[in-house]
Amino acid sequence: MAFPIITPQEAALLFNDGDNVGLSGFTASGSPKVVTEAIAARAEREHAEGRPFKINVFTGASTNNHADGALARANALGKRTPYQNTPDLRKRINSHDCNYFDLHLSELAQKVRYGFYGNIDKAIIEVADVTDDGQLVLGTGVGNVPTYVQQAKQIVLELNAKLKPEMLGLHDIYLPADPPHRNEIPIFTPHDRIGVPTVKVDPAKIVGIVHSDDYDGITGFTALDNTTLQIGANVCSFLLSEIHAGRIPKTFLPLQSGVGNVANAVLFGLGDSNEIPPFTMYTEVMQDAVIELMKAGKCSFGSSCSLTLSNDMEAEVLNNLDFFKDRIVLRPAEISNSPEVIRRLGVIAMNTALEADIFGNINSTHVVGTKMMNGIGGSGDFTRNGYISIFSCPSITKGGLISNIVPMVSHVDHTEHSVDIIITEQGIADLRGKDPVQRAHEIIENCANPMFRPLLRDYLKLGNGGQTPHNLSASLAFHTEFLNSGDMRNVDWAKFA
Ligand code: COA
Repeated sequence: MAFPIITPQEAALLFNDGDNVGLSGFTASGSPKVVTEAIAARAEREHAEGRPFKINVFTGASTNNHADGALARANALGKRTPYQNTPDLRKRINSHDCNYFDLHLSELAQKVRYGFYGNIDKAIIEVADVTDDGQLVLGTGVGNVPTYVQQAKQIVLELNAKLKPEMLGLHDIYLPADPPHRNEIPIFTPHDRIGVPTVKVDPAKIVGIVHSDDYDGITGFTALDNTTLQIGANVCSFLLSEIHAGRIPKTFLPLQSGVGNVANAVLFGLGDSNEIPPFTMYTEVMQDAVIELMKAGKCSFGSSCSLTLSNDMEAEVLNNLDFFKDRIVLRPAEISNSPEVIRRLGVIAMNTALEADIFGNINSTHVVGTKMMNGIGGSGDFTRNGYISIFSCPSITKGGLISNIVPMVSHVDHTEHSVDIIITEQGIADLRGKDPVQRAHEIIENCANPMFRPLLRDYLKLGNGGQTPHNLSASLAFHTEFLNSGDMRNVDWAKFA
């Protein structure tokens, strides 16, 4: 091989305090697994000797315990963007040890190329294979690799023995030109391939190859329970009613499904329905459920940015590449999440909310308005541009101490203008063509948990008039009550009357 083989520790010595570093991967899959741990160990040594050492990390989306987890524990992260979901990093973000800025996933690559965040100094890229002339066969996640390797001055490769050179052909690498020279992104069906199968880099930038040997280690999902099963069933019944009403073509439209337990349950629900026709996906993550649906012939094709799979499922896909290469294409995040393509294809967007308010605004990111959970991810890319935008969540959390339907969301990620449908295990609120008060009735009666409906109905009566009749003093009372007594059910509107 034309490139030097180095140890993770040798690679770590190449990094400097304050470096801007681009990482491979997307929603954990394809993230580095050994160099970032060595950088974290180096940071701990530097800190022990009284020297500052933090790197600024740009990713595709969330990474893993070896990257975000290790670097956060070592307090080695300066800036970090975009999506993350590691508990140790969450703590650093909420204490401002790490300066995290949240961003729509489709936008990061181009904003890096525009120079908004300074130069990318180094890139750490996991690969399944590399040729002597610098062609990279990527692993299970593409993320923003094409941009990071183009911009970085030096590149460290992690050659992961768990991946296979036969993954060649799974990816479709396409880098759009930047304005004013950008043309259309010529994707007209989820199957269309518009780029090349490898990422081409200048071989002179590759400073070393580090060996690794590990799966992505995505943790399994919480077992389906009555609530998530019912949410999945409600999503199916909504989609079927739209097909029957002629608002969704009988041939169906490509689906996008978000991350997490609820999204996984929705996909299982679609798989269980005999009436939902076989479908394609144009999405950013494909979780275990999609692979099961492909095996069952229910999902005929999936365009994604990553395969976010449990270890067993990842091994199964890698051992059956001939089958899956006909059914999967992995694209860079700015293409999988391209607003232009999502709108053209008519993607049905299905994402998860932490909380929704009675007027249709959605909070996907901030727990009780202040603490960052994960980030907006690609939910905004799909919600704003989807054919129909659906948000699901359970009606209550923590056994009913929290209502996920509130008078006013404590943080806004998706505004009422972008949200068509809200679904909980209680039912379906169709917000299309309704004014704010009509929406409030629809959401309270169909989606709120019965134990919170009287409180929400009474909130509407407290309103100070206007098109959106909030009572500004009382609008966040559910949240302040939770902070005070630990139970939103204790809200007493008499204090605000
Ligand atoms: N207030 C406070 N905490 C809440 C809450 C609320 N209204 N709703 C949920 N939570 C907590 C849950 O208790 C749980 O906490 P725990 O881990 O301590 O038990 C956690 O949030 C996750 O809830 P869960 O019901 O398991 O949901 P999930 O795994 O389906 O994830 C999101 C939900 C919103 C966090 C997740 O979908 C997300 O990060 N979305 C934003 C990004 C996105 O949509 N990307 C997809 C684009 S393709």
